[in-house]
Amino acid sequence: MNLNSKNDVSSSVRVWDLGVRTFHWGLVTAVFVAAMTGFFGSPDSLSIHLIAGISICLLVLFRIIWGFSGSTYARFRTFLFSSNSVRQRLQDILARRHIRYLGHNPLGAWMIFALLLTLTLIVSTGAVVLGGVFKQGPLAFMMSFTTGRLVQEIHQILAFGLVGLIVLHLLGVAYETIIGKEKLISAMISGDKPALPDVAPPLPAKARPVVAFIVFAIFGLGGTFGVASFAARPGLGVPTASVDPLYAKECGACHFAYHPSMGTSAFWGGILGHLDQHFGEDASLPDGSRAQLAAYLKENSSEHWDTRVAHVLATANPNEPLRFTATRFWTRMHREIPDKVFASKAVGFKGACNACHSDAKTGLFAPQNIEIPEEARL
Ligand code: HEC
Ligand code: HEC
Repeated sequence: MNLNSKNDVSSSVRVWDLGVRTFHWGLVTAVFVAAMTGFFGSPDSLSIHLIAGISICLLVLFRIIWGFSGSTYARFRTFLFSSNSVRQRLQDILARRHIRYLGHNPLGAWMIFALLLTLTLIVSTGAVVLGGVFKQGPLAFMMSFTTGRLVQEIHQILAFGLVGLIVLHLLGVAYETIIGKEKLISAMISGDKPALPDVAPPLPAKARPVVAFIVFAIFGLGGTFGVASFAARPGLGVPTASVDPLYAKECGACHFAYHPSMGTSAFWGGILGHLDQHFGEDASLPDGSRAQLAAYLKENSSEHWDTRVAHVLATANPNEPLRFTATRFWTRMHREIPDKVFASKAVGFKGACNACHSDAKTGLFAPQNIEIPEEARL
């Protein structure tokens, strides 16, 4: 079959099939959203970040399947180049020899594989961070906070690496467009490129969308099922029992009852040791109740849990060791909130975590559950 004979006069060739083009522009959109929310987002953009990440995961899965079932230039085998051809390509560029390729050129092809690999690593490390740091998603049941934090650094480094690759990719496109006079961008929209009479096309292949769809559905559904069943497991080190009723009653009388996992046992010991001078109030308790609370708080203090607050609030501020709101983490996280918001009637004081964190009483403090009350913002 001669690919060039299809559209005789203008003689253009369908290079990028619908699958490749949809993948390409879908990926551009998803990566853009993921990068914006990842680099510049606030905690409440985590949901959008996750949707973008899941989309990237599905797009990469599709592209891998399409690499074996798409039409000619979508197939991986048509752009598996050796390092020698990449070196040759670099030498051609340096020597200003312009050689046209219909599909990916060797450098471009290596870039595609580098991008697919980096995206796979970013999505995987993202799932580890989500599980370890936020105790959400399919890996929450097995990832520790410490692992999550470590992998968060790797996730970020990979994200910067991806930005670097994208810049190189765009430079490559610019080179081909300006120096090579190729209309690469419109080719990725229409799918067509001017034919190359002097270049033999690779062994042509027909797209097999039905096969691709079936394989994608099997992996997609299997993956979704696996993810859902893993995600349903309790998170590693996440408290599930509801707060002790005596504690909820005595320590929830003036402000919401702080979850025991928020303080170290030394912290709770400090609070219970000075109840008669409790931040200017007398919060004294009968000895029996106090002993009961002491035992409860000690048993459920942050040392026993692996949630984010159990870790980040554990380092007390030596000047004000008995306030969560004096810790470095807390001040950093809330520095952009004006004092008048905390003083407002809807909030009351900085320690009224539950006014803005709807899941505060569980000790989870998920990024998706933050909302400053409307009245407090006026
Ligand atoms: C009589 C009312 C009252 C009772 C009862 C009470 N507290 Fe408090 N608590 C306060 C006040 C007032 C503050 C300081 C509020 C402020 O910063 O303006 C406070 C602050 C705190 C803080 C510091 C919050 C922060 O990070 O700024 C902790 C921790 C705390 N209370 C724990 C407890 C525990 C545990 C109990 C039960 C043993 C308890 N409270 C019972 C009135 C009370
Ligand atoms: C006036 C509302 C308000 C109060 C009160 C408040 N927070 Fe927050 N908190 C926020 C907002 C808003 C953010 C997100 C800040 C940002 O944009 O980075 C946040 C962020 C956080 C985060 C990080 C969330 C994440 O996933 O990045 C934690 C943990 C947290 N707060 C804990 C607390 C604790 C503990 C208390 C009480 C001692 C508290 N907050 C009181 C509004 C509040």
